[in-house]
Amino acid sequence: MSPPSEDKCLELLKKHDAPENIQKHCKKVRDVAVLIGKELNKERDRVDMELLEAASLLHDIGKMKAKEQSGEVGHGDLGYRILQDEGYPETASVVRKHPVVKILKGIDDWTIEDKIVYYSDKRAREDILSLDERFAGLIESYGDTPAKVEELEKCKSKARELERELLTKIDVPSEIKN
Ligand SMILES: [Fe+2]
Repeated sequence: MSPPSEDKCLELLKKHDAPENIQKHCKKVRDVAVLIGKELNKERDRVDMELLEAASLLHDIGKMKAKEQSGEVGHGDLGYRILQDEGYPETASVVRKHPVVKILKGIDDWTIEDKIVYYSDKRAREDILSLDERFAGLIESYGDTPAKVEELEKCKSKARELERELLTKIDVPSEIKN
């Protein structure tokens, strides 16, 4: 099945109890992803814009269930399961890879849509931020032990490499210039 339309994505977010702030964040991440995807499509990369838009809008669909279960299974994996069950396996696969620590396992097998959704999520909360600002917020929220802070710092340097990989190929849109 092709990826869900924008209306369907918004319906799915509501169905799975995404509050207003998460919906707003998801739309902002989608905006960043679309800016990057369109520019890359002018170059040699071939980005599936329908898939990119759906996966960026739905990337946090597992957040509410993850909170309910007090974090036993990560929100990326829960989002993956939800979207598999809803009949969108391709979108599910992109959503699975977006959580911050997933980059530490290596991204050689990531698709271009996987990379853009991961990176765009690290450039926006409810507004567009720099990678530094976004990671400062992540460290504040989740860096409750020195080991966790160190792990997030590693993620940040990998995200910086990904930023170089994606943005050096394009004319960076002014909205996302640092
Ligand atoms: Fe997110």
